[in-house]
Amino acid sequence: IKNIGVFTSGGDAPGMNAAIRAVVRTALYHNLQVTGIRRGYEGMINGEYEPMNRKSVSNIIQRGGTILKSARSEEFKTPEGRKLAYYQLKKHKVDALVAIGGDGTFTGARLLGDEYGIPVIGLPGTIDNDLIGTDYTIGYDTAINTVINAVDKIRDTAESHDRLFIVEVMGRDSGLIALRTGVASGAEVVLIPESTEDLPALLHRLEHGRKDKSSRIVMVAEGDREGGAFEIGNIVKEKFPQIDTRVSILGHIQRGGKPTCMDRVLASQVGFAAVEALKAGRKGEMAGIINGEITFTPFDQACKKNSHKLDANMVKLVEILSL
Ligand code: F6P
Repeated sequence: IKNIGVFTSGGDAPGMNAAIRAVVRTALYHNLQVTGIRRGYEGMINGEYEPMNRKSVSNIIQRGGTILKSARSEEFKTPEGRKLAYYQLKKHKVDALVAIGGDGTFTGARLLGDEYGIPVIGLPGTIDNDLIGTDYTIGYDTAINTVINAVDKIRDTAESHDRLFIVEVMGRDSGLIALRTGVASGAEVVLIPESTEDLPALLHRLEHGRKDKSSRIVMVAEGDREGGAFEIGNIVKEKFPQIDTRVSILGHIQRGGKPTCMDRVLASQVGFAAVEALKAGRKGEMAGIINGEITFTPFDQACKKNSHKLDANMVKLVEILSL
């Protein structure tokens, strides 16, 4: 390979810039060219390519977002869209790719590899942590720290007013953000898409649990149910009108901000590993870290639903520690 294309796609995540930097610097170290592709698959189709050098990635390791910008592309989901993308890749002499993103990104990468034989290595870039083949994804650590900082503030006002707050966090298909931040912020109950017993558990707790609590936090993953935290709020308000209940949706603040040390290091390690892997002839895999070891997982495996990543003990932990 001579020219590696790098791009970010899907929802952005803090640490993506550190990953881009690692890919560019490792490629240059090996005297390979690097081409930045802007706006993910959209830019790949539309010809948004730019050569990258050492300076293109200076002073970005600490920055949130992605300097290459990101997008969710409908066109790339069609065979015609992918044909256009391939044509542009050839035109710009890009002969291998590093794709940074989540399951949508890897589904696209797998198709491009299968249909046109382009070697692609993926890097896990999503705040959701919902990929198989890595203990943590780039952006997850920063996002959960953003969440607990916000919930600590909510806790102050909850305590002043003797209120129950239902806090909604991101995670369209996954409760991993909700569960970990629920433990860390002393939540009463965590409601996650992976469980159907959590709402009855919340109602039971409110009915039979301690009545002398001055503040209560309930964490809800946005994918838990249609209507998310507002729906839970309505149910709680109807059944327990005596409890002063408020709903707070944290939203996209979870996707921004300076990446934590953990995310910067993870991004740097897997970014480096991706270029080494392409050089060694690997393709169609995501580079992750499991138990401290770089691990490669085929794209279709990496995208499998990850309910096994949910630790049942963590659910129990929330319950016991908030008695
Ligand atoms: O996949 C990451 C994520 O932040 C999800 O948790 C969330 O459901 C989704 O992206 C939001 O996407 P968008 O920014 O396109 O609304």
